[in-house]
Amino acid sequence: MQEYAQWRDVARPLLSADVAPENMEWRLGQRFEPLQLAMPEATRLRLSRRLIELLETISCYRHDGRWDLMYRLAWRSLRQPHLLEDAADLDVHRAMQMENAVNREVHKMHAFVRFREMTDENGVKKYFAWFEPTHEILRLGVPFFCKRFPNMDWMIATPDGAALWQDGELQFVETPDKSLLPKADAHEGLWRTYYRNICNVSRINPPAMRREMPQRYWRNLPESVEIQTLLRDGQANFEQRQKEALDMELAKARAMQRALADLPDYTGGPAACRRCDIWRHATQAVLGEGSTSAVIMLVGEQPGDEEDLRGRPFVGPAGRVLNAAIKDASLERSELYITNAVKHFKWQPRGKRRLHKRPEAAEIAACNHWLDAEISQVKPRIIVALGASALRAIAGRTDSIESARQLHIPHASGAQIVCTYHPSAILRADPTNAEQLRTHLVGDLRRARELAA
Ligand code: URA
Repeated sequence: MQEYAQWRDVARPLLSADVAPENMEWRLGQRFEPLQLAMPEATRLRLSRRLIELLETISCYRHDGRWDLMYRLAWRSLRQPHLLEDAADLDVHRAMQMENAVNREVHKMHAFVRFREMTDENGVKKYFAWFEPTHEILRLGVPFFCKRFPNMDWMIATPDGAALWQDGELQFVETPDKSLLPKADAHEGLWRTYYRNICNVSRINPPAMRREMPQRYWRNLPESVEIQTLLRDGQANFEQRQKEALDMELAKARAMQRALADLPDYTGGPAACRRCDIWRHATQAVLGEGSTSAVIMLVGEQPGDEEDLRGRPFVGPAGRVLNAAIKDASLERSELYITNAVKHFKWQPRGKRRLHKRPEAAEIAACNHWLDAEISQVKPRIIVALGASALRAIAGRTDSIESARQLHIPHASGAQIVCTYHPSAILRADPTNAEQLRTHLVGDLRRARELAA
């Protein structure tokens, strides 16, 4: 925040003098010195309250590029007053991601700060906490503790500085020597017993727990010794629950197949579909699978060789890339509904192998019959188009994925479409490009998750 105030003092005259972002560079590590620019009468800057709040928040994001981005946003907002409403704009999108990350970290601080009691030489009790946030959020996070513990004297120390609350007044001070802070107190045993008792092992979800309470916080939590034992016991329960959930999803998927087959006009379901000719050389129709109440639906192109044999979408090499991306985007495959634009495998022989052949527009259009039925059964709020065939099927558009990623495309059902690269594009790309495409795929899935939230 102090750095934010310094940045603001430098940025204001530059904005008034209309210095374009490309003509300057903000360097981290140096102190921003207020500029004495010889300027015409300084114009009053009209920055919206929302923009100022956003800038303050993202100034806490630990990344060298934040100052440049903040200046660019401010400079562009003066020309485009509605800039922040354009979530597809790359600067706005990045800023929102940074804002979310900072807010999440503040939330973690509220949840994971643990005070340890110390009695000073006059017998007065004081409370100390050590916290290591990913971003520089001490000033944003600390007002919560001032309200919550107004009558205690406490300090929250981080590697970036410390907040000291004494006699009802807040000060920011240098980080004290960490070795002088208490590592445990007399209440630790009580706290651990309490934690053991309230924790219901049969309901622990280890991946969600690690996601919500990342391991880097554990070393400052007195209950972490208990968490490790509880997690071990919880893992077995979790696997059993997952198996039951998967069985239930398979049963639901079968019910979906039956439901589709029972619709007038849909006799026999996709297995009996003769709307185009692809079925002739395929082993079976591959319908979608996953949660039939999913908020996010992923749509690929068509089943591949392995999918055709196993009757399930995305279980071959592209599926493995997709699974890893889903995980990196902090999503769970079982929470999604995953399907394809085309339900049969179209291929051409190459020696003994069956090589994927891209479906034609007419074949995609013929299969829309089934995709539409799936969309109206699942009613997702977000539909992720994986690649160009999916985009064509869902939105009837032929944009490149690169440009479609930046667009806001609504689906006729009211769902929002997020467009991204197909996992097979990553498998085909050279290593440098592949890494970039993978980053985009994960980023777009994260965006879908954020929109769904
Ligand atoms: N590619 C797809 O588009 N879908 C699959 O199910 C597998 C590979």
